Amino acid sequence: MSTRVLVTGGAGFIGSHLVRRLLAAGRSVTVIDDFSTGRRTNLDGVEGDLEIVEGSVTDAVAVQRAFANSKHVVHLAALPSVARSLETPLDTHHACATGTAQVLFAAKQHGARVVYAGSSSAYGNQQEQWKHESMREDPLSPYAAAKLAGELYCRSYARVYGLPVVITRFFNVFGPRQVPDSQYSGVVAAFCFSLLRGQQPRIDGDGTQSRDFTYVEDVVEGVEKALFATTTGCEIVNLAYGQSITVRDLLAELSRVAGKSVQPLYAAARKGDVRHSLADVGRAKSIIGFCPSVGFAEGIQRTYDWYRSQYS
Ligand SMILES: NC(=O)c1ccc[n+]([C@@H]2O[C@H](COP(=O)([O-])OP(=O)(O)OC[C@H]3O[C@@H](n4cnc5c(N)ncnc54)[C@H](O)[C@@H]3O)[C@@H](O)[C@H]2O)c1
Repeated sequence: MSTRVLVTGGAGFIGSHLVRRLLAAGRSVTVIDDFSTGRRTNLDGVEGDLEIVEGSVTDAVAVQRAFANSKHVVHLAALPSVARSLETPLDTHHACATGTAQVLFAAKQHGARVVYAGSSSAYGNQQEQWKHESMREDPLSPYAAAKLAGELYCRSYARVYGLPVVITRFFNVFGPRQVPDSQYSGVVAAFCFSLLRGQQPRIDGDGTQSRDFTYVEDVVEGVEKALFATTTGCEIVNLAYGQSITVRDLLAELSRVAGKSVQPLYAAARKGDVRHSLADVGRAKSIIGFCPSVGFAEGIQRTYDWYRSQYS
């Protein structure tokens, strides 16, 4: 019998890539998702042994039903977005913090190994350029605080119950199926959408803020490695390229790929956003053998091509 993996939030952007990757490797997958930000259609056409449980990770009964006989869990379910968390911080708290406590409680009962989707937002603004896992976290927004609360639960479950957990901190993940037309959209998806619609892309702030943009296929490869590694206790690893790209440079690269020259609109910088976000990926390489194979430039090309196939 193949290993059954539970993926919470599996109908979301990153989840839909992970589910495809796991199924392609011959694994059985159960998804639990409440479809609050994810879409059923994100899992259209997938082949393999996939079960979908519609429900919330804050609901103990739904989580128990989803666990079935899974001994491996990737916990992605969350309400992402710094901006959303400023508007509805309690919703963010319930989905990210309470939901994580619920999933960990069930994981303990089932003796499961857990990979938790952590966020680079936990670092906040730091003096040092490279964000490394041993830094003291400094969450700026309710989203960052709720994601970090989830991490703290992971650490405590590893300590007191011996639960094996890997916290994978994602930086700015981009790729196909990221929602491009919401007020909470990630910047790569939003820029692709604007370019394809002939609209001016909007830059919040002056565009010199920088991010470690990471292609989704590389992220889910790292997640899979973390899931089947043999680590014990709680490990924390950054999953990114260790490459700093400003928002202006991102737009220039996308404009080049699109063959268009565009003037952006500038808006006020958003509250709660960090200025610079750059990963030290040394631990991910040494602990889980993280070795991204696609990279930024190829990832941007594939992403733009996908949005063009969907929206032009
Ligand atoms: N995308 C990024 O750049 C990024 C960066 C850092 C961390 N992360 C983390 O990665 C994970 C996945 O993010 P994503 O970008 O794919 O976002 P997403 O919104 O596409 O996916 C989240 C999924 O969780 C589901 N969900 C939300 N609340 C739920 C609940 N209470 N019960 C069950 N399902 C619920 C949503 O419907 C959605 O399918 C999140 O934990 C997020 O915090 C993402």
